[in-house]
Amino acid sequence: MRTAVYPGSFDPVTKGHLDIIERSSKLFDRVIVVASNNTSKTPMFAVDEKVEILESVVSHLDNVEVDCFHGLLVDYIEKHSVDVIVKGLRAISDFEVEFQMAGMNRKLNPKAETVFLMTSTDYSYLSSSIVKEIFKLGGPIHELVPQIVEDAMNKKKSGGGI
Ligand code: PNS
Repeated sequence: MRTAVYPGSFDPVTKGHLDIIERSSKLFDRVIVVASNNTSKTPMFAVDEKVEILESVVSHLDNVEVDCFHGLLVDYIEKHSVDVIVKGLRAISDFEVEFQMAGMNRKLNPKAETVFLMTSTDYSYLSSSIVKEIFKLGGPIHELVPQIVEDAMNKKKSGGGI
């Protein structure tokens, strides 16, 4: 039984994230998608809102669960007996950051193995930050995020919860 964890800010979850989740669900017996807040970014969604959205987005995948964490990822994987950390890689710029994180996670916990999946070319240009920018400027995001995410962003914009 191989358990993978796919951590991220998911602010918001994009179709690029969903592609990585779907592909991971075929490679591992169990995948836990864990939402956290990147301490260097100001989030649009609270962690519990991200969990609610992610649960809807992955509801068609039987071996995928959603959770959240607030501390170090290595503490989460130790506590939940996770075998592998899955990350998506879009470009060389991602590689530098991810290379550092994978190395530091392994330094913190030598059992922390990170596996990288290359993002599908369809989504290589996609990021949560760019989705938020297009949305704030009134551009179309329906090809970039699942419908539930667009709905949740519209609700946020109009001042409500999700
Ligand atoms: O979607 P993101 O912003 O690339 O996700 C980054 C995230 C949340 C996976 C990363 O910041 C993280 O693992 N944070 C948890 C805190 C931690 O363990 N930091 C040390 C990483 S070496």
